[in-house]
Amino acid sequence: MSAQEAAMALVDPSAYADGRFERACAVLRRHTPVRRMEPPGFEPFYALTKHEDVHAVERQSELFAAAPRHRLVRADADPEPVRTLVSMDPPDHTAFRALVADWFRPRRLRAFEEQVRGLAKAAVDAMAERSGPYDFVPEISMQYPLTVICSMLGVPESDRGMILQLTQRSFGSEDPEYQALTAVDDPNEALMEFVNYFSKLVEDRLAHPTDDIASLLAHGEVNGERLELFDLLGYFGILATAGHDTTSSTIAGGLHALIEHPGQLDRLRADPSLVPLAVEEMIRWTTPVKSFMRTATADTEIRGEPIPEGEAVLLLYPSANRDEDVFNEPDRFDIGRDHNPHLAFGQGAHYCLGAHLARMEARAFFEELLPRLRHIEPAGDAELIKTLFVGGLKHLPIRAEVA
Ligand code: HEM
Repeated sequence: MSAQEAAMALVDPSAYADGRFERACAVLRRHTPVRRMEPPGFEPFYALTKHEDVHAVERQSELFAAAPRHRLVRADADPEPVRTLVSMDPPDHTAFRALVADWFRPRRLRAFEEQVRGLAKAAVDAMAERSGPYDFVPEISMQYPLTVICSMLGVPESDRGMILQLTQRSFGSEDPEYQALTAVDDPNEALMEFVNYFSKLVEDRLAHPTDDIASLLAHGEVNGERLELFDLLGYFGILATAGHDTTSSTIAGGLHALIEHPGQLDRLRADPSLVPLAVEEMIRWTTPVKSFMRTATADTEIRGEPIPEGEAVLLLYPSANRDEDVFNEPDRFDIGRDHNPHLAFGQGAHYCLGAHLARMEARAFFEELLPRLRHIEPAGDAELIKTLFVGGLKHLPIRAEVA
């Protein structure tokens, strides 16, 4: 693959689905790990494919800022219609993140463990009810994390289908199949529905405080002032979206990897104490977030390559997570991998707020499923989503016998 082909593969959503993205990362990582790309339709950027470089950039949040270009989008597109944590820098980022950071700490989350387990059990019960072939992604893996995050946000069960639609439509993916599913005449219409829905939720929590995140945000203050409506909506938006696509991709991609590596599945069933390591490996293996971006705030260099002030760098997490300098046999799926410093949750100031929750959800799911799983086999081809940003499998047809 030539440098030009690699540049095109990094900016083509289909390339993730057909394997060119992964090949491009491998070629760049080996030959030009810090490479300036100028693909047509996009502002130029430096692609970073080595673990060490992605890690170093993320640790230096003053030298490499999130604004003004925190993710890869076409030159004529707005990276984010509403500002959220991922696009902020200090001091705003620090103050906004502090609002809910406590909620997502392991100690606080322990209080939800029972509830998450109950929802994991319900997902496995739903598998047990099915006898013929079915598509695991839309029917199970998309639903379960959405239910978890909605119950934390305070969205009632009856509204969850609508929230899935709204998040897919207003923060939707580049995949034409998803775009067709969620098509609206006016693209702002979905965003307005989202605005109306969460505005009402906020009004309700202001009048009747509860212990959910909606209430926390409605009453939350930054510099002594209540959050403005659009900042509140950005918060709901990022929690609702970051909270389900990613975890769903880990669970579906993890199950797919187990089906494709029956020896690993047998090993996990024989020793369930390996589930935490297996989940970590599934997160590395699937790396649901493909990239974020940072912009250099001063002239600097990476691996000897000058990066002028104002230039953007693309942090390619899937590539960092297959770096042969860090991982022993990186292309092997190994549920017992015990040295696994993957960067799937990022690093530094923006380190994924939901990392503990995501791990808890995935562990609960596999701990519920494995003892009840009698048989599982593919019932068609698995298909990856077309994306530049977040996602994994969009179809995983299976036939499973679950007790
Ligand atoms: C940020 C990955 C699950 C909420 C991030 C980042 C990554 C990521 C790569 C950016 C980190 C950086 O820039 O250094 C993942 C993966 C997940 C997952 C792979 C599942 C396996 C979740 C869940 C939530 C969540 C369940 C639930 C609420 C967030 C938020 C941020 C974030 C709010 C922004 C943090 C900030 O900018 O300060 N995530 N995430 N994520 N994630 Fe996750």
